[in-house]
Amino acid sequence: MIGFSRAAEQLVCDGVPLSAIAEAEGTPVYVYSAAVLRERYRAIDRAFGSHSHRLHYALKANSTLALARTLQQLGSGADANSIWEIDLARKAGFSAADIVFTGVGKSPAELERAVPLGLKAINVESLGELARVEAIAARLGLTARVALRVNPDIDAKSHPHISTGLKINKFGIPLDDVRALFGTIGRRRSLKLVALHVHIGSQVTTTEPLARSAALVAALVAELRERHSRNAPLEYVDLGGGLGISYDGRAVPTVEEYATALVNAVAPTGLPIVIEPGRAIVGPAGALVARVIDLKPRNADSQFAVLDAGMAELMRPALYDAYHRVEPVSRRPGSEKQYELVGPICESADVVARDRLLPPLEVGDVVAIRDAGAYGSAMASNYNRHPLPAEVLVDDARWRVIRRRQTIDDMTAMES
Ligand code: LLP
Repeated sequence: MIGFSRAAEQLVCDGVPLSAIAEAEGTPVYVYSAAVLRERYRAIDRAFGSHSHRLHYALKANSTLALARTLQQLGSGADANSIWEIDLARKAGFSAADIVFTGVGKSPAELERAVPLGLKAINVESLGELARVEAIAARLGLTARVALRVNPDIDAKSHPHISTGLKINKFGIPLDDVRALFGTIGRRRSLKLVALHVHIGSQVTTTEPLARSAALVAALVAELRERHSRNAPLEYVDLGGGLGISYDGRAVPTVEEYATALVNAVAPTGLPIVIEPGRAIVGPAGALVARVIDLKPRNADSQFAVLDAGMAELMRPALYDAYHRVEPVSRRPGSEKQYELVGPICESADVVARDRLLPPLEVGDVVAIRDAGAYGSAMASNYNRHPLPAEVLVDDARWRVIRRRQTIDDMTAMES
């Protein structure tokens, strides 16, 4: 059995007891299963079947080098959201032609560096950005490969903080402007339009809005072709990321349902599909392992369990009220009790898990916060001068530290 499972009442990751990792490396520590990472990548890849496709792993979900390298070695491309994620991708072994550059605010300095790299595409988010890319390419005597990110005005029905497809959201180019560009883009010598791009949000848990946005892109491809019968050589459509995972056991679309929805929508164009999955690959592959450092009464029914990890290490519960399963690594006997699991940070928002029924906890016990592989370590901060946690990769029943715990000297190295 791969991933996180129970063996003799002990939570293990690919056969390695999490208690052993916590003992050796201390807590809090992120633990990842290489087997789950690979299986999730392969499952999504397989689900697209014979329709020509490529996964560009969204580095924003988790760009710890060893994980990015693992995915690169499986054949993944990368979706980078800043020039620094591009730098990271290059370090991880992705070639420029394997990288798409997304992001709503690419600075002039980022574009100056990105344009000459020869990326697979710069996913352009506005008419102004298109002009800036064009000016840099013209000055350098290059042709920049661009994709237009369309704002489809479609509701992903996810958390408002991570829904991006509505007109009121800051992302993408309005449909009318995209259509207007179709008339002129062929004449802009320093630009090559290689794809249309859409991304309506993250943690999307029904296929309907994803299918609708894919269909809209397919219709735009047809429009573009009609207006430029010979002269619209798009290479692919980029349908973004967004596939949700089940944090609480409720059903989410399977990778097959997801892929089928996209393929059906795009098939009439005959174009290959690029997707930019992040969470669906790395989310279930990681857990944040933490220790109970205090227990105290809360109300008649429940106690606070104060953990040594909180919003500095895993921001999702505080920021989105996100639900993560929490379980003790070794289960104590006795009837379940109600706990409010909180972090050590000086904010009342620093709650990791509300109102959970768990086997009895004692100070010193180790717990695992599940499905924390995506947007966990990537969004960690030094708030309250918490060091960034150590990260461990379990691969083939062996484990190794892929990022050591930050020290106070690391933290202050940039300060005077
Ligand atoms: N492509 C683009 C253009 C994106 O903006 C994103 C995510 C992805 C792909 C990957 O989406 P995924 O497959 O992971 O859903 N911090 C939030 C999620 C923010 C997502 C940002 N963009 C969270 O913890 O839920």
